[in-house]
Amino acid sequence: MNDHDYEEDQNQGEAEDIVSTARKIDDQQLRVSKIRDGTVIDHLTAGEALDVLAILGIDGSNGEGVSIGMNVVSDRLGTKDIVKVEDRELSQSEVDVLAVIAPEATINIIRDYTVIDKKRIERPTAVTGVLSCPNRNCITNANEPVNTRFMVLDEGLQCNYCGSIVHEDEVPTYLDVA
Ligand code: CTP
Ligand code: ZN
Repeated sequence: MNDHDYEEDQNQGEAEDIVSTARKIDDQQLRVSKIRDGTVIDHLTAGEALDVLAILGIDGSNGEGVSIGMNVVSDRLGTKDIVKVEDRELSQSEVDVLAVIAPEATINIIRDYTVIDKKRIERPTAVTGVLSCPNRNCITNANEPVNTRFMVLDEGLQCNYCGSIVHEDEVPTYLDVA
C-alpha cells in the first residue's frame, strides 16, 4: 500500500464515521420527531408512557399516529418518557386522570408544527366519570344513572359513594375514559 492509498483509506474511514454519527443523530430525532398537529405529553417520569397510552385508550387499533419515547435523555429529569399523539387534543377528563398519575408532565398543544399552548398539569382534588369503582356492590356499578366520582387523596383515589380506594398504580386497571 503506498502513501496515497493510505490517505484515501483514512478519508474513507472518516466519511464512514460522519455517516454513522449522522445516522445516530437521525435515529434519536426519529424517536421523538416533531409533529404537525396534535398533543405532546412531555416530562413524564420514565416508565409512565404506557400508562398514558392506557389513559388515552390508545392501542394502535384506531390508526392514530403515535410516537413514544421511553427513557429519553432529559436535562431536567435525567431520563423521561414522552408521548406524541397526532391530530388529537385531550379531553378534560383525560387531563384529570393524567394529572393523577403524572402530575409532573407538561401538555403541549401543537398546531402547524408550533407549540400554541403549554400546560403544566395540576393534581386535581377529584375526578368525575373516568374511573370505575372496584367494589361490585357500589351504586356506580348498579346500572343507576350515577356518575363515578373519586376524591384524590395521598393514599389513592377514594370513591365518593362507597369509600373504596383505588391506588395510583391501579388507576390504569379501572380506567373508564371514553
Ligand atoms: N414538539 C413536537 N412537535 C412540534 C413542536 C414541539 O413534537 N411541532 C415537542 C418537542 O419535541 C418537545 C415538546 O413538544 O418535546 C415541547 O416543545 P418546546 O416547547 O419547543 O420544547 P421545550 O422548550 O424544550 O419545552 P419545555 O420547556 O416544556 O421543556
Ligand atoms: Zn364505589
